Amino acid sequence: MAEEKKLRDISWKEFKALPLTEKGAYFQGDPPHTLIAQQFTRAKLEELCTLATRIKRINKRREGANFLKTLLSDKRAMLYFAQPSSRTYLSHNAACQILGLDTMDVRDSSTSSEVKGESPEDSVRTFSSYADMIIMRHPKGGFAERVAWMMAHTGREVPVLNAGSGSDQHPTQALLDIYTLARSFEDIGGIDGKHVVFVGDLQRGRTVRSLAWMLTLYKDMTLYFVAPEPLQIGQDILDLLDAAGTKYVVTDDFASIMPIADAIYMTRIQDEWDAAGESSTIDTSSFRIGAEHMDIIKDTTAIMHPLPRRQEISTEIDNDPRAVYWRQMRNGMWIRAALILTTFGRQDEANQYYDDYKPGT
Ligand code: ASP
Ligand code: CP
Repeated sequence: MAEEKKLRDISWKEFKALPLTEKGAYFQGDPPHTLIAQQFTRAKLEELCTLATRIKRINKRREGANFLKTLLSDKRAMLYFAQPSSRTYLSHNAACQILGLDTMDVRDSSTSSEVKGESPEDSVRTFSSYADMIIMRHPKGGFAERVAWMMAHTGREVPVLNAGSGSDQHPTQALLDIYTLARSFEDIGGIDGKHVVFVGDLQRGRTVRSLAWMLTLYKDMTLYFVAPEPLQIGQDILDLLDAAGTKYVVTDDFASIMPIADAIYMTRIQDEWDAAGESSTIDTSSFRIGAEHMDIIKDTTAIMHPLPRRQEISTEIDNDPRAVYWRQMRNGMWIRAALILTTFGRQDEANQYYDDYKPGT
């Protein structure tokens, strides 16, 4: 990662125009922000995955859980979710509870003073007056970046965690996806060299956009983008993969890719972004997994989904050991705890506790 740069030293216009891979250097400072997948290095991902597992193990015993609750007991987090969420909201909230942070929330802008005409910018500035961290989901792409930039130009810059912005980024989901892949492939050589298959609405799926880039940090990957043509992955992501030298295949032939997949990452049609119900006219019937496919999928394949699902994964396969999406969801709580702790620079205290007490697996 390039040397640290300061958001307060750059105009919004200049910052906005930067390529994603150059923006990351502005988020590493004090406080660090988590805004885009492109700000992560492989070393950082590995550090977070290790810490997530340690927090999980420490938390298993009551003394450990009580210790974790002291780590951020002097901090408060604001959860601002201007779009619906179950997992991301709850897992961030649970991660805060594990670390002893108190939380406040606005889950619906219609209950905040935005209704009285307050701008989203002023609303977030208001939240930052009472909180030490803002965890936010917003329908407007790039708005979390705007908030971080704006706060850097006020006297109170608190860290911002992007919990999903528009259809462009969902970096903390990509973190839990990386953690899930790392755990799934622990005994088969880790993530390097694997074939990861993305299926569904890749055009508007922000989880795919963030995760695809993070996978460029691993060696000899091949990514497969399997979707009907109108829902295919954006050229901007393919350009990033090209620049990173990551191999990929773009296809609509799911059946031929299933047997070679090490991970299959299913996604739902993101029809909340439809202008007039146009995605209901697209035939997505061959972009699903059911019990009839399980014989051709390898024994070690991890079947993932950021959730919520609709029909793209049949509930018949939920108890197959390859169906890791429920574990994937729970992993979100641990990796988000690791991220929040690291954001406040208190990870050494958890690592020290782990080394001293060596809690079992
Ligand atoms: N929950 C994920 C997101 O918010 C995926 C989805 O909604 O389909 O992006
Ligand atoms: N995966 C995910 O972001 O789920 P929610 O939309 O329920 O938060």
